[in-house]
Amino acid sequence: MDNRTIYAVYGKSGFGREVMPIIAEQFCDEQDSVTLFLDDEKTDEVVNGHSVWTFDELEAHSSLKKRSVIAIADGKVRERLATRCAAANIGCMSVVATNHVRMDNCMVGEGAIFCPFTTLTSNIVIGVHFQCNIYSYIAHDCVIGDFVTFAPGVKCNGNVHIEDHAYIGTGAILKQGTSDMPLRIGRGAVVGMGAVVTKDVAPGAIVVGNPARPLAK
Ligand SMILES: CC(C)(COP(=O)(O)OP(=O)(O)OC[C@H]1O[C@@H](n2cnc3c(N)ncnc32)[C@H](O)[C@@H]1OP(=O)(O)O)[C@@H](O)C(=O)NCCC(=O)NCCS
Repeated sequence: MDNRTIYAVYGKSGFGREVMPIIAEQFCDEQDSVTLFLDDEKTDEVVNGHSVWTFDELEAHSSLKKRSVIAIADGKVRERLATRCAAANIGCMSVVATNHVRMDNCMVGEGAIFCPFTTLTSNIVIGVHFQCNIYSYIAHDCVIGDFVTFAPGVKCNGNVHIEDHAYIGTGAILKQGTSDMPLRIGRGAVVGMGAVVTKDVAPGAIVVGNPARPLAK
């Protein structure tokens, strides 16, 4: 029996390689632990000094303690892989950079990633498997659903409600709502990079520009 704890980053793409150092920092004091990347394709590659295992290899490994974080921007893919890990008794973990700032009364679901220089102010509720990329912030009284993704530098101002699986592109600015009328970003909506969102975004819509408008193709 191998008693090490295995910390796995699911995804070895650019974002996975950004998440790995946060994990290494978070768990560096632990004895008997190993960090590795998980990928669906078999490879003998070593990425930034970490081995790459397949999901099947991790599932078959005798360690009792296996934990993963899913570093993939697509919320639908994240949900599928989270279900797969849970079925294989691979625990999920949250990854939080040491300089992440969190103020009062923030509730965050499991499986979150908070990259360096991210901030949650006060009275915020966030669902499971949230991804908060570098330099993004969320202000007071926001409610964020499950499997939501923030690219780098998202400015999410107060009283904004974002539904499950929404994707907010890099540098987007979301105008503040009010407590009786929050700004709403609908389920599965995509806010393009650099957009300035001043009005509600419908579920599934893609919006771009300043002020943000539905993307015409
Ligand atoms: C909005 C977005 C999802 C659209 O992607 P897409 O459907 O593949 O769109 P296309 O690249 O085919 O572009 C379609 C048109 O919209 C324009 N467009 C695309 N994204 C835009 C944006 N963010 N703002 C303004 N215009 C944009 C394109 O220039 C193109 O215009 P054209 O038809 O006049 O040439 C994408 O461009 C985007 O912004 N994604 C977020 C990227 C990001 O934040 N990455 C972070 C990585 S960590």
